[in-house]
Amino acid sequence: MDVRETWATRVGFILAAVGSAVGLGNIWRFPFLTGESGGAAFLLVYLLLVLLIGLPVLLVEFVIGRRSKQNPIGAFRKLGHPAWKFAGAIGALAGFIILSYYSVVGGWVIQYVVAGLTGGFGTDAETFFLSTASGTNAVLYHALFMSLVAGIVALGIRNGLEKAATVLVPTVVILLVGLAVYGSTLSGASAAYDYYLSPDMGTLVSDAIAVLPAAAGQAFFTLSLGMGVMLTYASYLGEDRNLLADSGIIVGIDTAIAILAGLVVFPFLFTQGIAPGEGGAGAIFISLATAFNELPAGTVIGTVFFIMLLLAALSSAFSIFEVVVSFVIDTFDIDRVPASVGIAVVIFTIGIPTALDLTYLDAYDLFANNILLILGGLLLSLFIGWVYAADARDELQKGRTGSRFGVFWLQTVRYVVPAVLLITLALAVIEYVEFIQGTFL
Ligand code: TRP
Repeated sequence: MDVRETWATRVGFILAAVGSAVGLGNIWRFPFLTGESGGAAFLLVYLLLVLLIGLPVLLVEFVIGRRSKQNPIGAFRKLGHPAWKFAGAIGALAGFIILSYYSVVGGWVIQYVVAGLTGGFGTDAETFFLSTASGTNAVLYHALFMSLVAGIVALGIRNGLEKAATVLVPTVVILLVGLAVYGSTLSGASAAYDYYLSPDMGTLVSDAIAVLPAAAGQAFFTLSLGMGVMLTYASYLGEDRNLLADSGIIVGIDTAIAILAGLVVFPFLFTQGIAPGEGGAGAIFISLATAFNELPAGTVIGTVFFIMLLLAALSSAFSIFEVVVSFVIDTFDIDRVPASVGIAVVIFTIGIPTALDLTYLDAYDLFANNILLILGGLLLSLFIGWVYAADARDELQKGRTGSRFGVFWLQTVRYVVPAVLLITLALAVIEYVEFIQGTFL
């Protein structure tokens, strides 16, 4: 039997996980969701859920992955509970849907890179965004993004992406800090900070029902949870690694980048007089492009920014594609190259409606994140909390000395995580039905 590959270094593993976590979710989805969901109140609930749900579920995936050394479907068989493999199958379904529109947004980013290299982001940023985001261009660039992802996976130049992540994460941080500093000098900055950073407890209570599923869905999305990406990455991990310490670092970096993105986007939106809730999926593209059009050397900075965003999006998309491909390879016994091509075609096709009409993008996004990912995370947590608890604690303990956290973690995974996720799921289903009725019926 082959000896299973492991990550060469601790840094390599952390970077790969960070490369998956940091992506469009942090820089595109987080700010526009915050804008739609009430600003600071959303941010507060989101941060609470990252700690209360995100970190424990990340550890759940890490423990299952390292214990089984398998993909998300094979893992449960290996651990002696094959019936649970449908939890992995839900994850694979989520992967198909998420990647289908992730790739469409990735296509927008490519268009911004091209525009930056060939002169600028249009005369009016909003018109430019609309011509980018839906229609023939959107479909063509969606195809291009999907081909890039499939090509990388099929060729297996995994190293290239891992190395890119080493440069990428610090560069994204530096650029975002620079933009945030610039944003702080704008006239709308203080109104923006007020909106983004001082939660109003009154609205927090009254909006809880809408905010909870959105915040939980984002916590899962941004940490790449609920579909087995982190499970798969941890399956290549040696026994001597401290899962808790690594997950703390990953969550910390990911959260910091999202918060920074908000500090960039909101001053720009407020200064242009765009209500934060109106920016929608275009918020970051419109607000930043306007700024880049006005800044001295803005086109150059903007182009660099969108290239970074593209790399971040690619390294995340790659992680989703990899799990879907390994699922198909293992289940249907097909080779990697034909599997990659076939899946790319399927995902491209599924994504076409979202490239033609932004309403579909919302519909896909709500369904896959707020429902499928949460359901996947719920099942994984129930498995660890109630079926596999003793072994899970043992696995978490490897590479560590203290043992009190393990007890605390298991209790959280047993009671707190399922309770919060069940409530979230119920609210999300109600919200989704209303959304579909209001939009399509
Ligand atoms: N976390 C990535 C982002 O924030 C997206 C992502 C990658 C993802 N892999 C995932 C989302 C798995 C859900 C599940 O952009």
